[in-house]
Amino acid sequence: MKTIAILAAAAIIFSCNKKENQDFGKPSEPEKTTVNSAEFPLAEKGAELFQGTGKCATCHKTDVKVIGPSLQEIAQKYTEKKASIAHFLNGESDPIVDPTQFEVMKANFVITKAMSAEDRQALEQYIYSQGK
Ligand code: HEC
Repeated sequence: MKTIAILAAAAIIFSCNKKENQDFGKPSEPEKTTVNSAEFPLAEKGAELFQGTGKCATCHKTDVKVIGPSLQEIAQKYTEKKASIAHFLNGESDPIVDPTQFEVMKANFVITKAMSAEDRQALEQYIYSQGK
């Protein structure tokens, strides 16, 4: 009788845990990766570089500032100033979004300068495609 009670208790605890796990296991909102491929033909490739090789997604999210400014903010600033993100990523132009934090971003030029010009264009198009 005792054994059954223990087993029953164990079953209840187990089923509770399972339910909790299911709740916690829910995938968080996926990053917005839909791109307008007509306007930004390289954006799809840029998205891959951004999340993969470039490791940019560690510090940049679409609409919130994390370690780096949001892609929307970057897109907005660069549109306003008619500046080139691709040039910036090749170390050819000065920061315009948050110059005080430039040192943190600058470390990534090792990666972006090693990329092809087309890859830098792809990153630029991806960032623009995430702007409003
Ligand atoms: C370690 C964190 C980190 C990573 C990784 C990172 N960034 Fe940044 N990024 C920052 C910070 C911090 C800033 C703000 C400083 C600045 O504006 O230069 C920034 C700024 C920028 C800007 C705006 C530059 C300007 O004009 O001010 C662009 C564009 C950018 N990042 C693109 C990228 C791309 C593309 C990658 C991937 C190759 C990347 N970042 C990876 C932290 C990061």
